[in-house]
Amino acid sequence: MITWNDFQNTVFTQLGRDIRRQSNPDQNAAIQAPPNHSLFIVSGPGSGKTTVITLRVLKLIFVDDINPLNILVTTFTRKAAAELRSRVLGWGDQLRRAFINNSSYYPVRNQLQRLDFNRIITGTLDSISEEKLGEYRAPGTPPPPVVIEDFVSNALMIRVGLFGHGRHNNPVLRDYIIQLSGSAFGG
Ligand SMILES: Nc1ncnc2c1ncn2[C@@H]1O[C@H](COP(=O)(O)OP(=O)(O)O)[C@@H](O)[C@H]1O
Ligand SMILES: [Mg+2]
Repeated sequence: MITWNDFQNTVFTQLGRDIRRQSNPDQNAAIQAPPNHSLFIVSGPGSGKTTVITLRVLKLIFVDDINPLNILVTTFTRKAAAELRSRVLGWGDQLRRAFINNSSYYPVRNQLQRLDFNRIITGTLDSISEEKLGEYRAPGTPPPPVVIEDFVSNALMIRVGLFGHGRHNNPVLRDYIIQLSGSAFGG
């Protein structure tokens, strides 16, 4: 829908990120690579990885016409996943507005307007897997196991792990816990 040239120039003018070949050749190559190219990028903290993955997603949508619904972006923590999502949505909207105001894209302005960046799939590996297991489970089969959170896991540890088989009365375990925490159970 959008030419690669207009994409990189608009990223520079609207988002202040310079991904042009002469300025950042590595970022340029990674973002511009065709959709069917697998990339494996190794680079240090603060070197521009999040910028690359965000702009690559937007390049797939704007330049390669890939439906946001068919894009999955994942990372390791919930915080990073949420940041990635808000960055794609925020930058996506800024770029869309700029292209709509660009007279050469007048013929595709409706298509631009309809782009729904919100449909991209983001989340952590765990949350996406859990969701997909639930979504595609065969009728009648039990729901996938849910991850137990702090309160439930602590209660289980105490009930099964500590009080089960009267372990709280075991002097060896008691001494070991005192050694670890400086006090006895519940102290
Ligand atoms: N091409 C670029 N032009 C301008 N600023 C950039 C560019 N690439 C990255 N930055 C800036 O550098 C900083 C680190 O980038 P980021 O993508 O968060 O790195 P990483 O994810 O590798 O830690 C951010 O403030 C980002 O906006
Ligand atoms: Mg990062």
